[in-house]
Amino acid sequence: TNMNVQIVSDKQAGGKAGFQVFEDALQNGAKVLGLATGSTPVTIYEQLVASDLDFSQLTSVNLDEYVGLSADHPQSYHYFMQQHLFNAKPFAHSYVPDGANLDAAAATSAYDQIIAANPIDLQLLGLGKNGHIGFNEPGTDPESTTHKVTLTESTIEANARFFDNADEVPRYAYSMGIGSILKAKQILIVAYGEAKAAAVAAMIQGPVTPDVPASYLQTHPNVTVILDDAAASQL
Ligand code: GLP
Repeated sequence: TNMNVQIVSDKQAGGKAGFQVFEDALQNGAKVLGLATGSTPVTIYEQLVASDLDFSQLTSVNLDEYVGLSADHPQSYHYFMQQHLFNAKPFAHSYVPDGANLDAAAATSAYDQIIAANPIDLQLLGLGKNGHIGFNEPGTDPESTTHKVTLTESTIEANARFFDNADEVPRYAYSMGIGSILKAKQILIVAYGEAKAAAVAAMIQGPVTPDVPASYLQTHPNVTVILDDAAASQL
């Protein structure tokens, strides 16, 4: 693989390793950071919040948002970003797809214009158990731009823990596409735990296939992968 794979002992160490990637990117002049939600990025955000890095002249662009949840909904990805990063470390501009806009064509094309105007220097990604990145589920067109996604049962179940029950998990999301993600100059993908091990192996060592959206990262020239031992156990 041409990916730069770093194996760490646990997510605390992963947070520090991920922080280092951000710090280096900023030192190299990164102005637009692509950010992600989920439990995986949390320790990186903790390190960013605890640091003296200043984002007040930078722009952030998030990967995805649930359709139907407004920015102030506690389970929205907007809200997650405020809690984990933006309240402590405000950016000059922070963009997240507008989940409150139920007009999918308008919401997604507006977001593609934002990405075009703010080319991403470093994109942070988590990894779904089924190999998804953002909300690009298996089968997604590798050239896709921002689009409305119907979430799979596996993703709804995985995310149900954040809601009172699975019925409350939104069925749709707006997500940057695989094509949008691959346009980032640099990509950092992080995965922890046994449950991600098969997806990690398929991402790094398997064929490049729509069945594993993360496998398209093999086609990108500048990818760093941070894994704990469990997530690396099938490599
Ligand atoms: C969701 C998000 C993804 C995230 C994935 C894994 O589906 N849309 O961006 O990578 O969950 O989440 P976690 O990091 O909690 O395992």
